[in-house]
Amino acid sequence: MDIANGVGDISITDKSPNVNINEDIVDPWTVVSSSDTGVDYDKLIKRFGSQHVDKELLDRFEKVTNQPIHHFLRRGIFFSQRDMHLILNQYEAGKPFYLYTGRGPSSSSMHLGHLIPFILCKWLQDVFDVPIVIQLTDDEKCLWRDIKLEEANKMAYENAKDIIAVGFDINKTFIFSDLDYIGQCPEFYRNMVRIQKCVTFNQVKGIFGFGDSDVIGKISFPAIQAAPALSTSFPHIFNNKKLPCLIPCAIDQDPYFRMMRDVAPRIGFQKPALLHSVFFPALQGAKTKMSASEPNSTIFLTDTVKQVKNKINKHAFSGGQATVEEHREIGGNCDVDISYQYLTFFLEDDEKLERIRKDYSSGTLLTGELKKILIDVITPIIQEHQEQRAKITEELLKQYMTPRKLNYNY
Ligand code: TRP
Repeated sequence: MDIANGVGDISITDKSPNVNINEDIVDPWTVVSSSDTGVDYDKLIKRFGSQHVDKELLDRFEKVTNQPIHHFLRRGIFFSQRDMHLILNQYEAGKPFYLYTGRGPSSSSMHLGHLIPFILCKWLQDVFDVPIVIQLTDDEKCLWRDIKLEEANKMAYENAKDIIAVGFDINKTFIFSDLDYIGQCPEFYRNMVRIQKCVTFNQVKGIFGFGDSDVIGKISFPAIQAAPALSTSFPHIFNNKKLPCLIPCAIDQDPYFRMMRDVAPRIGFQKPALLHSVFFPALQGAKTKMSASEPNSTIFLTDTVKQVKNKINKHAFSGGQATVEEHREIGGNCDVDISYQYLTFFLEDDEKLERIRKDYSSGTLLTGELKKILIDVITPIIQEHQEQRAKITEELLKQYMTPRKLNYNY
């Protein structure tokens, strides 16, 4: 894939100028920044033509839900959006929506960063009382990686257990593997074809950078990731009604949904709304995101207490100074310090976080001490996850993944 962020002529509504070589690379396959502080997210908003999650939106959220806002939204971890005001207005007016997110099952073990969209989705499901559909793109991983269909399908089921362990309500959640569900549901396939009919090869080339030697499976895949944004792809849940869709995802997935937003009105649907997250940085630093194929950059959900401790101590990039004396004098740099960055994701207490930021920046708090704080925050989260996951039986897994009516009458 050689086009970093190409967005073709399909973007009529979402403005997206061409990309320059010195810019961060952000697409569904690559996330690389030239800066130690990571991707420039303000620039990305401009380039993708989305909106900031700003104070006004956060206030609207609190007013509509009557709940304190999730710290992922408060702290700019979900920093960008499309059509969120419309979703909230419609919700206030009594028009229900649904959530859609997904995961490409490329490894049987998920990592800490993979949890971010799911944690927000679980919170959204609770505060809005809405159903969620979760797509496991085993087909995608088979097409893009050197993985057999059967293997990818197996990993989808393993990953589903990690997703369920986040706490999704069984009466409001449908998880599906593409390889298993699409063949069972004519409505899903029909929506795929409706989408495929609206997008030319030129357009997907522009959006995704496909080339002449890419297999045709890749070229038609975007319609598969777009189809769940149409509620009629799930007749058992939505009874063929058209509901607005909200998609929380990491911002690298936006190209699929820019495409869907262009197509939706042409086939009689509202454009899906989006909430975009930043990337969860690799242990080695924010230049790239955490990746399951780089074990040293990654804290897996299966890691032991000892592994978590060792990885953070050994590999977490430090914004501290070379010697204790220097550190006490100059202080640490929280903008590049990975332990501090991770705390912004996982330490919910704002006051504590602010104290840590001040103490580290002033040099009162040393790198070793900061790492210990992070270890103490992350370890119980991983342990709790492992406990929840261990409780999921094959029977329960099957229930979540069976097409069925959920707790809603549409
Ligand atoms: N392509 C995504 C991945 O590789 C998986 C995915 C499918 C997804 N549908 C989605 C992610 C919707 C976010 C929202 O991980």
